[in-house]
Amino acid sequence: MKKTLLTLLFSGITCLGFSQGNTHKQTGGKFEGLAMTPPMGWNSWNTFGTSIDEKLVKETADIMVSSGLVAAGYNYIVLDDGWMAMERDENGNLLPDPIKFPSGMEHLIEYVHSKGLKFGLYNCAGTKTCAGYPGTRGYEYQDARFYAKLKIDFLKYDWCNTEGITAKEAYNTMSNALKTAGRPIAFSICEWGDNQPWEWAKPVGNLWRISGDIYPCFDCEYKHPGNWSSWGFMKIVEMRKDIRKYSGPDHWNDFDMMEVGNEMNDTEDKTHFTMWCMLASPLFSGNDYRKMSKETLAILTNKELIAVNQDKLGIQGFKYSAEDGLEVWVKPISNGNWVVTFLNRSEVSKKVNFDWKKQLIKDIDFGYEANFSTTTYKLKDLWKNKEAGTTKKAFSAQIAPHDVITLQLSL
Ligand code: GLA
Repeated sequence: MKKTLLTLLFSGITCLGFSQGNTHKQTGGKFEGLAMTPPMGWNSWNTFGTSIDEKLVKETADIMVSSGLVAAGYNYIVLDDGWMAMERDENGNLLPDPIKFPSGMEHLIEYVHSKGLKFGLYNCAGTKTCAGYPGTRGYEYQDARFYAKLKIDFLKYDWCNTEGITAKEAYNTMSNALKTAGRPIAFSICEWGDNQPWEWAKPVGNLWRISGDIYPCFDCEYKHPGNWSSWGFMKIVEMRKDIRKYSGPDHWNDFDMMEVGNEMNDTEDKTHFTMWCMLASPLFSGNDYRKMSKETLAILTNKELIAVNQDKLGIQGFKYSAEDGLEVWVKPISNGNWVVTFLNRSEVSKKVNFDWKKQLIKDIDFGYEANFSTTTYKLKDLWKNKEAGTTKKAFSAQIAPHDVITLQLSL
C-alpha cells in the first residue's frame, strides 16, 4: 500500500515535471485547406519510371508554362520514385541523387518555384520505396524536417516494404511529422486502397489513391509477374465508383496519375480525361510534355472539362444508367447545374436517344435531384464547346466506340 502511494506520488511529480517542461505542441492532423479542389499537375512515374533528372524537370516546368498547361490550372511538378541516392547520408538524411540532380535539389525546387509552380516528392512508409530506394520507416520526423527545409509543397507517400506496420498508424505518423515540421505540404496517401483509406484518412491526408496502378488501356488488366496487376482506366472507375460519398474538398479519392498522351488513341484519352473530371479525381498528367501532340495538349487543357473537375462542390459523379454498353454518368455541380456524360463502352458505334422527360436523376449520397418534368435546363456540349438545345427535347446522337459526349446542364 505504502509502495503504491509512493509510486503514485512519484509518477504524479514526474507527470507535472514533463508537462511543465514540455513545450512541444501536439499538432495532430493534416494541414487543412491545401486541396480544396482536386490538385492538378504532372508526375514523372507513368512515363519515366526512375529515369528522371534535372534537365527533364526543368524542361517540363518550362513547357508547362509555355504550352498553357499552367494557365489551364496544372501547378504541381511531382518527382516520383527514383530521385534519391541508394543510401542515406552519414547523418541519416535522405540524399537526392547527385548524378541525376547535379545542381542540387534546392536549386531545382527554386527553379520550379520561380516559374510559379509547386514541387512535390515521393517516398514510402516502408523500409524501402517500391523501386528499392531508402524508405521512411523509422525516419518520419527527420524526413519531414528535410522536406520542409527543401521547401517542397506535396508529398506522395507509398506503401511498399511495410511488413509489420499498419497503414492507419503509418500515415498518421507521417502526417503528424509533416505538421510538426511546420511547412504546409499536401499529403498524398498511396496505399492502393488496400486499407480503405476513405474510411479513416480524411483528417490525415488531402488525397488518397483508391486502387493499384493505372495502365494505359481502356479496360484491360495487365498482370505483372509476382501476382499483381495494373488496371485500365475504366477498371479503376468501375472498382471505386461506389465510394463517392467519402470524397470531397481537401479529401479526394485519387484515381491515379493519368495516362493521357501515352499509349491509347485520342478518343480513349478524351474519355479517360472526361471520366477523371466527372469523378473529381486529382488531375496529374503522366506524359512526356516534350513529345506531346497538339491533340493531347487540347485534351489536357480543355477548360470546360477542367471546370467540371474543379467545381467547388467537389462531388464525385456517379453512374446513372447502363444499357447495352451505353452508360450515362452524371455529376452535380454548383448553382443547381449538372454534367451528363454519355459513354460508349462497347466496340461498336451506338446511338444515344435520351428523353430527359422520362428521367429523374437523384444523387442519394449528396441530396441533389434533377427533375426534367418540372425544370428545363440549357444544354452545352463541352467537347464541341457548342450550345445543344434544352432538356425539353430528347437528346440524340451517334457515339463512336470508347467515345463520350459530355453535356453541361444549366438552369
Ligand atoms: C507504386 C505506386 C506508383 C509509383 C510506384 C513507384 O507502384 O502506386 O504510383 O509511385 O510505386 O515505385
